[in-house]
Amino acid sequence: MNPLNHVAIIMDGNGRWGLKYKRSRNAGHKEGLKTVERIIKQSIKHKIKFLTLYAFSTENWRRPKKEINYLFSLLENFLTNRIGELHKKNIRLKIIGVKNFSSKLNKLLDGSEKKTSKNTKLQINLALNYGSKFELINAFKVLQRKGEKISEKSLSKYLQTKNIPDPDLLIRTGNTKRLSNFLLWQLAYAEIFFERKFWPDFTVRDYDRIIKEYKNIKRNFGKI
Ligand code: IPE
Ligand code: IPE
Ligand code: MG
Repeated sequence: MNPLNHVAIIMDGNGRWGLKYKRSRNAGHKEGLKTVERIIKQSIKHKIKFLTLYAFSTENWRRPKKEINYLFSLLENFLTNRIGELHKKNIRLKIIGVKNFSSKLNKLLDGSEKKTSKNTKLQINLALNYGSKFELINAFKVLQRKGEKISEKSLSKYLQTKNIPDPDLLIRTGNTKRLSNFLLWQLAYAEIFFERKFWPDFTVRDYDRIIKEYKNIKRNFGKI
């Protein structure tokens, strides 16, 4: 049975769910947050140590302002109301991506990271304004500036995921089979599951089923 240390999720399909059931994309984002809470709880049950959630990509700025504002207001409310509870549950929050939001949100994110920085049960990496190509280019630039030799090890030091082991498992909901600029380097050997369901409909049972299947895969890493 494969150990499962790190799960990464592309939480896709909120907008389509909202349009289908509530006539607004934003209603889907709100509903999707409930799935986030369920999956966090279930990850702890499975003794998963790292959960990386793709919440906003560098390309998502191309969306209408109304939707972007709504997404960030959801995040702001969530953190304001729930960070205490996450902290009590010994959960660590880390942001991956570039924090260039409103000063209020930047502060809230920094504060949440700091408050939970010593926690050890589960680390949630929230990918916000995250883009893998930007991350890689930035890391190469740092190496070049410092005159350091380019190697897997040296490059990893300058990625946002520094000190985080690579994901074992990637799940993308929403019936789309692409990576959308997510962890291109780090997913080199991840087991990938594409799910048809929209993120708000993704259940703990779906999660359990994927994990069970993952555990029985023969992972080769090039060997036989
Ligand atoms: C994913 O759901 C969440 C974010 C990108 C913030 P979408 O909003 O992409 O939902 P669909 O894919 O349009 O249904
Ligand atoms: C990927 O979903 C980003 C997040 C889930 C945050 P998108 O819905 O933005 O991806 P594309 O644009 O359909 O590839
Ligand atoms: Mg989408």
